Amino acid sequence: MKAEITLLPGDGIGPEVLTASRYVLEAVASKYGHTFEMQEFLIGGCAIDAQGTALPDDSLTACLGSDAVMLGAVGGPKWDDPQAEVRPEQGLLGLRKEMRLFANLRPVNPHPALLDASPLRPELLRDVDLIVVRELTGGIYFGEPRHRVELNGEQQAVDTMTYTESEVRRVAHLAFELARQRKSKLTSVDKANVLESSRLWRQIVTSIASEYPDVQLELLLIDAAAMHLLTRPGDFDVILTANLFGDILTDEASVLSGSMGNLASASIGAIKNRFDLPRGLYEPIHGSAPDIAGKGIANPIGMIMSAAMMLRHSLGLEAEAEAVEEAVNKTITNGERTPDLGGTHSTGSLTEKILEGIAAAIPAQ
Ligand code: NAD
Ligand code: IPM
Ligand code: MN
Repeated sequence: MKAEITLLPGDGIGPEVLTASRYVLEAVASKYGHTFEMQEFLIGGCAIDAQGTALPDDSLTACLGSDAVMLGAVGGPKWDDPQAEVRPEQGLLGLRKEMRLFANLRPVNPHPALLDASPLRPELLRDVDLIVVRELTGGIYFGEPRHRVELNGEQQAVDTMTYTESEVRRVAHLAFELARQRKSKLTSVDKANVLESSRLWRQIVTSIASEYPDVQLELLLIDAAAMHLLTRPGDFDVILTANLFGDILTDEASVLSGSMGNLASASIGAIKNRFDLPRGLYEPIHGSAPDIAGKGIANPIGMIMSAAMMLRHSLGLEAEAEAVEEAVNKTITNGERTPDLGGTHSTGSLTEKILEGIAAAIPAQ
């Protein structure tokens, strides 16, 4: 197959981990006889420095014209002035909105060899296999009004949390369908005891549930869910939640896996690519990690597992996705680790091990 993939390295460790996944994709292409045309564009802080905007037009045009997009991370202290007019994060949020990626899938399956890397007791982690479906283009991230005003002689800042019925319905259907393909359990997380937008969320999710009688629905409030995620993580299957809650819960969930650097994500919507598959955006859940940027020690696993998700969801290459996942899992089983997981590997040397695993994979016919 021939596929066009736009690469957005971004800032901090973004380029370091994206380079690792580029090598992985090149290895997959040569082993399985595919052509992946990969072109890099600016996004985030580096784009602000170069062009004054976090999402340059040529970057957006490339993303909208490609079969899939891979992104490292954006942001960093250089662009963190709270009074700045433009921020790196606007680039990512704008891209998600423009690509109409309403669902962000974040799987959490701690590797058996990494149970000791988590501060939680291993017996709590043994059966964890969950996926968070985070609504991605609505909620308080995008609600209007959103501004600062002078009020009674002081500044007031306003953000607005909104959801429409259709926004909730489409992501809820996606989550129910996903639960059906997994363990048939869906946990919807909201703050319906306080927020009107959460009450609408809960009402829609509950009404849709009758179309999925085979899926067990659990309703949790976000504060309690944050606790349950640590006390009984093995009970969850699909967790469906709003934009902000999903952002927070998944950083918490990364603790189950042993490191922020481990978790991958796929963002998808209704728009299809040339293969009649979702035109997705694939990125690790972590950020630009300014504390380790430039040291060459970032864990590339979240980024590489995101590349596997891209192979599966946007390119339909299931065997290739599995080969990448198996190579990553074998590397972890063999005790190879970057410093965040207690090891001594650099990003590059860990990636080398993973590439060896891909080279050794037996291609399915
Ligand atoms: P972060 O995820 O960048 O880092 C949190 C902690 O996890 C740090 O100690 C970091 O060293 C560690 N970490 C993260 N990824 C790692 C990896 N691959 N390997 C090893 N350790 C890793 O979160 P932060 O420090 O709160 O945010 C830094 C910047 O990143 C901010 O500007 C934020 O807006 C941005 N950010 C971007 C994205 C994105 O682009 N998708 C996501 C989250 C945060
Ligand atoms: C994430 C990040 C982003 C978010 C930021 C960088 C805009 O934290 O992808 O989890 O909040 O969605
Ligand atoms: Mn986040």
